[in-house]
Amino acid sequence: MPDYNYHFHRDDLKAALACLDEYGFCVIRQLIDREMVAALKESIDRQLDPEGDLAPASNRYHMAFAEDSEPVWDLVENPDYKRFIHTVHGTTDLCLHRSAAILRTPGEGMGRWHQDHRGHIARPQHANDVLNRFPIPSGAWLYLNGSHPDRSGIAVIEKSHHLEWEGPEGYIMGPNRSGIYPEGGTPETPYDGMAVPGCVPVVADPGDLICFAALTWHANMATRERRYSCGIGFRPKTWRIDAPWPLPDSALALAERLPDHLKHFTEGYTGFDGEWRAE
Ligand SMILES: [Fe+2]
Repeated sequence: MPDYNYHFHRDDLKAALACLDEYGFCVIRQLIDREMVAALKESIDRQLDPEGDLAPASNRYHMAFAEDSEPVWDLVENPDYKRFIHTVHGTTDLCLHRSAAILRTPGEGMGRWHQDHRGHIARPQHANDVLNRFPIPSGAWLYLNGSHPDRSGIAVIEKSHHLEWEGPEGYIMGPNRSGIYPEGGTPETPYDGMAVPGCVPVVADPGDLICFAALTWHANMATRERRYSCGIGFRPKTWRIDAPWPLPDSALALAERLPDHLKHFTEGYTGFDGEWRAE
């Protein structure tokens, strides 16, 4: 466990963002209340496991959760959440960038260490390569069960959020900054992911927001409970994206259904086309 504090009260955003800047991650305590936690979990169940048939040790993802989830839009009306997104982006002129929800069942092992940022890829090949190129927090995630190494959640590598970071001591970074593996091994060599130098198993409660920087390396910890999480990303509207895929119908439908005072969040929104591939 780190010898510095990374948990902050929602009124202490300045200190939280200083921690994000220095260590690459921070936790904002109790940004949302129990009712909102319950509403988001229910929404994830409805979207990802309506029949209750998700097998043990597996997962499902929704890659445009904000398009289908109603409670997400209550979030952006929550004054604390609103203040957080305005502060972290330094502007109130924001559009929806991307959003996701993940449901996991007990029995899943630890995921691979990776970074979401794809700014080093010269010719984008997938939607992630197009969208994950901006200096905005990659994770502004609500782990609705909280996060703890004994149960489930996220681990990060502290201070890994710089381009010059070449991997933890004793490890090699794979080609195109894809994954790490022990020195003397190959990308397939197994190792204990939690034992990597700089690994911080993030500890958080339901209702806390876990935030990490654009480049921060992270991994899903082993899952020992039914685990719900969702992340909503915004970006300043001035950063326009000329998406190579047509605006999905589901993105158009979102703009239609949102009430007038929220419609502005869809100006500049590209939607997410997981099928798109570069020619
Ligand atoms: Fe990730």
